[in-house]
Amino acid sequence: MNADTQRSAGTVYIETYGCQMNVSDSELMYGRLAECGYVPVGGPEGADVILVNTCAIRDHAEQRVIGRLGELKRYMSRDTVLGVTGCMAQRLGPALLDRAKHVQLVVGPDGYRALPSLIEGARRGERVAKVDFDLEEHYEDFHARRFDGVRAWIPVQRGCDYKCTYCIVPMTRGAERSRTLSDVERESAEVTAQGITEITLLGQTVNSYHDGEHDFADLLRRLGRTPGLRRLRFTSPHPNDFTDRVIAAMAETPVVCEHVHLPMQSGSSRTLKRMLRRYTRESYLECVARLRGAIPNVALTTDIIVGFPGETDDEFEETLSAVRDVQFDDAFTFRFSLRDGTPAARLPESMTVSDEVATARLDRLIAVVREGSRARNLSLLGSRHEVLVEKAARRGGLLQARTRHHRTVLVPGDASMIGRYLTVELTGTTGSTFTGALVHNSRALPLAG
Ligand code: 5AD
Ligand code: SF4
Repeated sequence: MNADTQRSAGTVYIETYGCQMNVSDSELMYGRLAECGYVPVGGPEGADVILVNTCAIRDHAEQRVIGRLGELKRYMSRDTVLGVTGCMAQRLGPALLDRAKHVQLVVGPDGYRALPSLIEGARRGERVAKVDFDLEEHYEDFHARRFDGVRAWIPVQRGCDYKCTYCIVPMTRGAERSRTLSDVERESAEVTAQGITEITLLGQTVNSYHDGEHDFADLLRRLGRTPGLRRLRFTSPHPNDFTDRVIAAMAETPVVCEHVHLPMQSGSSRTLKRMLRRYTRESYLECVARLRGAIPNVALTTDIIVGFPGETDDEFEETLSAVRDVQFDDAFTFRFSLRDGTPAARLPESMTVSDEVATARLDRLIAVVREGSRARNLSLLGSRHEVLVEKAARRGGLLQARTRHHRTVLVPGDASMIGRYLTVELTGTTGSTFTGALVHNSRALPLAG
């Protein structure tokens, strides 16, 4: 049914936690519900339907949601429907209905097609948990409701087949499946027709994309021809899926940006083996070398976990040395969080790394990461880059813009510049972000990498 010909079904607010995939899923849910007559609103106050789209990756993420569910009570009237969606919903299922009596719906990542009818049921007083997997589900016919007019996230793959021993994702998002290339191509053309010039392809191990006929290299090359597209990114790849074909496609497709987020997790082959990452320190470093060989000056960022069960001081030192060797632009660093049901949860208790040790390692790791990115960022001062202006920065009067290398630059300007490409000279750095001065307005391709 068409939203124009339908009366309003009420208002809906979705609060999103976790990764970019969840942001994208929330856009799909908003789109679906808008087609059924729901009006999206920007906050929980007075919303008829409140959905909390959750993450389960670390215990901390779940604790935040539990706290938030309590807080949301104050916005609810007798008729408000509160639902929990996403990875934590999938993981806890009906137990969440027992634990939080004011929650009426618990819907996992493959259940969003049923949301309108589940919400109707909840309005009649039903309480339901829908957590079955659907390996065919891609939500192809949903029209994502995007709130960012500059960049778009397009999921190309759902689920994960890697089964790293620490990770809950295979249990919350099920087995890996890819959308068809033609479908991704259609959506890319749709978003660029709306004036969006940057697309980020999403998947749990996005470069293992395969639709039965085309691999990730085909996908990059084909999307590289999308009219109006100026920047193509993807996240997150797995090192083992960087075939020569994929790296060549990246290097030869001009819109593909010179930045790779390449989760390393650990720099120790022994730890990597217990994590079942399926690569060694050496093969990871070789992947880095191949990327750098094909794409000069490619920026690399990573994810690292410290305190995985059995991690010795020596193994941790190997992580520090790998961070120094690679010279990452930046790293997201985490203390291992034990997730029930994962293979790591079955390791003997004697292998547990104490909180004190894990915290001390995290602090040291962060210091080494910062030292490296600060040195690199200082060396970039004075260079010129093409940036895309994304939004107003938190700091007054400045805009937040990004280079092709995914470096954040704060530039002076007003809201009319959002969505534009500018050339800036990097004039200062806080260590992690830059300030920049405008060189001239540009529709031209980048000057510097
Ligand atoms: N504990 C800590 N960090 C984790 N990650 C995934 N699972 C866990 C866990 N159990 C981290 C990984 C991954 C990132 C998204 O979250 O580094 O790449
Ligand atoms: Fe995203 Fe993983 Fe968190 Fe699910 S558990 S929201 S897939 S980061």
